[in-house]
Amino acid sequence: MPAVVVLGAQWGDEGKGKATDQLGSRVDYVVKFNGGNNAGHTVVVGDEKYALHLLPSGILSPGCVPVVGNGVVVDLEVLFEELEALTSRGVDVSRLLISSSAHVIPSYNRTLDKVTERFLGKRQIGTTGRGIGPTYADKMNRVGIRISDLFDEKILREKVEGALTQKNQILVKIYNRRAADVDAVTAELLSYADRVRPMVADTSLVLNQALDAGKTLVFEAGQATMLDVDHGTYPFVTSSSATAGGVCTGAGIGPSRVDRVVGVIKAYTTRVGEGPFPTELHDDLGEHLRKTGGEYGVTTGRPRRTGWYDAVIARYSGRVNGLTDLVLTKLDVLTGQEKVPVCVAYDVDGVRHDEMPVDQSAFHHAKPVYEELDGWWEDISHCRTFEELPVNAQRYVLALEEMSGTRISSIGVGPDREATIVRHDLLD
Ligand code: GDP
Ligand code: IMO
Ligand code: MG
Repeated sequence: MPAVVVLGAQWGDEGKGKATDQLGSRVDYVVKFNGGNNAGHTVVVGDEKYALHLLPSGILSPGCVPVVGNGVVVDLEVLFEELEALTSRGVDVSRLLISSSAHVIPSYNRTLDKVTERFLGKRQIGTTGRGIGPTYADKMNRVGIRISDLFDEKILREKVEGALTQKNQILVKIYNRRAADVDAVTAELLSYADRVRPMVADTSLVLNQALDAGKTLVFEAGQATMLDVDHGTYPFVTSSSATAGGVCTGAGIGPSRVDRVVGVIKAYTTRVGEGPFPTELHDDLGEHLRKTGGEYGVTTGRPRRTGWYDAVIARYSGRVNGLTDLVLTKLDVLTGQEKVPVCVAYDVDGVRHDEMPVDQSAFHHAKPVYEELDGWWEDISHCRTFEELPVNAQRYVLALEEMSGTRISSIGVGPDREATIVRHDLLD
């Protein structure tokens, strides 16, 4: 019975939600270990479409225990909105566990996220404006508020006061905004205490006991490798560890307990927000991928930037995460192309790079070196075995597998749960 990590191998929105959901009823625990409601996962079940932000996708599987680990930042208002929305659609959310050490996103950090972006002007990151960056900054700066603080009013007030001593200077003196009020912030956070209390647990203990008992655990990352604060395209990244290493710190388990690391990767590439993107298309083909793939953000509704598959990034992702498997998604979106270019290396000022350049300026200037593969015209959305795919689609998958250096264990041919070709069982 394995512990499996499911993470994004590109810049997010690879289809992690669907990949996690698909493991479904065979999974005992689904754990979110990083990020917050900056994530947006779409899961399609029959005629029903669910958009999840803060909660792990496993919440849709009856019997599975969804867990919000200590590495997550929790917006309490969003938590209860999301829980109510799911309950009203008949989803049982009663098993949810939340780490007492997870940090909460106070309202002043949402304000700071937005005004900082505005202040940055041309240099903005293009954040989701959910207060993610300022909340992780508070955590590192040791002025954060944790879930456990909600249960002691005196301590909570002291911590809010401590944080606002710094934050209000920034809000008022730098950004010319109104100061946040200690009483109002404390009262707002306290108003959630009784409702959240029954969900709070020592999730590290629960998860380690589950591992000892031979249960099946899936650790579902928000965001992705290229948005990871250490390994992504810094500073155009999110503020958490979205790579495999984040599982250990964000869930409180040791690396020796992880059996498998699955990278979810699109058959092409997308990115939301600012930052370098070597294979980006600015032409009709880019618009075609956006339209056909429905590439609009689940969280902010922004159109996603689109481009061809980048095997350099796939290899890099394989390396920094120690990937054992790839889940290739959205192969159906590429149907109808005469040729499908795949980036195999970068040209940086006349020098070929087969690996990710170490110098960030080089990556900003990288020009993709393409290999053109033959396309296919047949509708593949009904294919359920590899052999049913048109030969050129099969060749495309095999070429990606070889270039990426990681086996492709599953192939997505549509948004529905069933629209998947399984080559290797991820839980085996
Ligand atoms: P996540 O953030 O990684 O969970 O991904 P998102 O949910 O933000 O974006 C992925 C989108 O692609 C969602 O709308 C999914 O329903 C959809 N999707 C996932 N897999 C496939 C696939 O194989 N084919 C198609 N056409 N859509 C897919
Ligand atoms: P899922 O889990 C795609 C991007 C934002 C921005 C940068 C920093 O659905 O794949 P933040 O609000 O986190 O400080 O923004 O990261 N970003 C995402 N892009 N998918 C996501 O999540 C993202 N979460 C954050 O667009 O560029
Ligand atoms: Mg998403």
